[in-house]
Amino acid sequence: MLIYAHRGYSAKYPENTISAFKAALPHVDGIELDVQLTRDGRLVVIHDETVDRTTNGSGFVKDMTLRQLRLLRTESGERIPTLEEVLVLIEPSDVTLNIELKTDQFDYEGIEYLTWLAVTEFKLEERVVFSSFNPDTLVRLRDVAREARIAVLTGDGHPRLVEFVERVGAEAVHAQPEFIGTRDAAMMREQNRLLRLYTINDPSELPDMTGVDAIMTDEVERFQSKSRH
Ligand code: G3P
Ligand code: CA
Repeated sequence: MLIYAHRGYSAKYPENTISAFKAALPHVDGIELDVQLTRDGRLVVIHDETVDRTTNGSGFVKDMTLRQLRLLRTESGERIPTLEEVLVLIEPSDVTLNIELKTDQFDYEGIEYLTWLAVTEFKLEERVVFSSFNPDTLVRLRDVAREARIAVLTGDGHPRLVEFVERVGAEAVHAQPEFIGTRDAAMMREQNRLLRLYTINDPSELPDMTGVDAIMTDEVERFQSKSRH
């Protein structure tokens, strides 16, 4: 089973910061992060649509320019990273990067192509997996990026999951533990699709790991990575 750091090493460092990503790198097989788009079309790594919870500012990311956003500070005194900054950090490593496109509330026109462009500029296509809760985003991404690795993001599944996974050619489903044991989970295994679970912070939450390829966790040192030990 592989270990992905959820928003970086977010149990010990502020989520989605460079320090959280740096701290995770020696321990994990993958890093998960969230991307949103600024008013001037820049890709930034932040979970919420607003900056309120994680910085000393307030307001929507979509209403701020990158310059305005970079004046803000997280509780560790850091700036909100751009996606490119994280790609620079990841590039020399061998970890997989899971980029979640946060188009749940806003469409962020063009985010799919811009993100794909950034990844290809760094030649990281093979090490990046894109995911989103928004099916339209995954369809748009597939349209602009035929080779992109895609994971369908869900809670415990949805009625047309299997059909949708096939439609976008997803390599994986990213789901909560409740998905294990469903018919769709079995179907995914039959089709050799991967299953990555989020967000698991306590090893006892995982009674049966059969068929689970990776977990995403805030507590990266609580789990033994297959490849790092
Ligand atoms: O990608 C899995 C997980 O990160 C989705 O939930 O809210 O932590 O982005 P959230
Ligand atoms: Ca996420």
